[in-house]
Amino acid sequence: MIIIKAGGSAITDKKLPFSIKAHALENMAHALADVKEDVILCHGGGSFGHPLAIKYNIKGNITTQEQKIGISHINLAMRNLSNIVCETLIEAGCKPFALQSSACMTAANGMLETFNSDLVKKTCEKGFIPLLYGDAVHDSKTGFSIISGDQIMKHLAITFPNSRMIFLTDVDGIYTADPKRDKNAALIKEVPFSKLSSINAGGTGDVTGGMKGKLSEIIKLKGLVSEILIINIEKEDALPYALKGENPGTRIY
Ligand code: ADP
Ligand code: IPE
Repeated sequence: MIIIKAGGSAITDKKLPFSIKAHALENMAHALADVKEDVILCHGGGSFGHPLAIKYNIKGNITTQEQKIGISHINLAMRNLSNIVCETLIEAGCKPFALQSSACMTAANGMLETFNSDLVKKTCEKGFIPLLYGDAVHDSKTGFSIISGDQIMKHLAITFPNSRMIFLTDVDGIYTADPKRDKNAALIKEVPFSKLSSINAGGTGDVTGGMKGKLSEIIKLKGLVSEILIINIEKEDALPYALKGENPGTRIY
């Protein structure tokens, strides 16, 4: 099993609300059309999810009318983004089957609590690519909360043990510091799980914690997956190489 997270930075331009990186999305879809193994795809919120979460102050208890309107907006925007991802995959010859995360997952205090993973299994068994995404979901403590695609990845790792995981983002992998802010940042080709917490990763201002949040979720995958790669979706050959077992970015072991 190959489980892929297409980061919001990879498929949208986070600086421009509701913008799509169509070329990156098409690259990904064409690479996936050639894969013989089972694939699960999960994507982030990017410019569809994060600006709305910030605008409507979606954190802690969701009690005000304004916050509730924000939840409706996020629910709609994430379905729209999922539709665009689905359309691109179908055009490239893939068979995606979108599973609306808000309809098969719940959270407690912002952490994924229940997950109907049987739907994901059945979708794979029938030869489809299950498509999941970070979303606003029911939360038993706060009313609603936002779960990240990176959190969903952990539950997929538990459901499908020893899978390979590929995280697609907009930089070449994990660097010694944020490569967009520090010109001396160097790409780390290989890193053990035990060293991840010492990496200087930025938060990017996202509601789900940016690269810092991603690494804190990836640390939890130790012992559950066979390998993790973090690669750049914008490099045309990176995903095809990664799917063949090569490392075009950072390998976490
Ligand atoms: P995605 O949306 O693809 O899941 P994020 O936007 O949350 O990913 O995180 C990717 C961003 O994290 C990159 O664009 C990069 O600028 C930033 N970043 C911060 N620290 C690091 C680091 N140490 N290595 C790589 N990228 C980093
Ligand atoms: C966030 O998911 C979902 C919403 C904001 C609704 P992620 O945290 O996985 O999104 P990216 O990858 O950082 O954009």
